[in-house]
Amino acid sequence: MASDPPDLRERLDELLAAAREARSGAYAPYSEYTVGAAVLAGDEIVTGANVENASYSVAICAERVAAAHAVARGLRDLRAVAVVGPGDEPVTPCGVCRQFLNEFNPNLVVISEGASGERLAEPLSALLPEAFGPANLRDR
Ligand code: THU
Repeated sequence: MASDPPDLRERLDELLAAAREARSGAYAPYSEYTVGAAVLAGDEIVTGANVENASYSVAICAERVAAAHAVARGLRDLRAVAVVGPGDEPVTPCGVCRQFLNEFNPNLVVISEGASGERLAEPLSALLPEAFGPANLRDR
């Protein structure tokens, strides 16, 4: 996006490439919808892929795997997330993932690319307006 800091903008192609590669690690025998994700946490890229389960609702999306992986390594400064799915159209994070990511940065840049090359880039705040977050819990 035009307003992104230059160093972030320069890394979005790299982030998308990491998400594309991470897709090969997906475990999606039920939906066969494989997704790869990569977060830029500080200056580091951390990846994830969706992991499904025979108990279908237990599935974890690629975005949450990548974000949790980064946070568990002490990397909480999530700046951007890239998502790559199987379709021609860019895939955007599901509602649960939007909430999960909002915890760490409501202004995180979400970037996605479809097989057609079509790209979407939005701040998370546009995908999850009026979000409930950590600040709300201070109002007890
Ligand atoms: N999925 C993701 O990993 N990320 C998304 O943004 C959308 C959906 C996964 C969850 C499930 O394993 C499969 O895609 C089909 O919904």
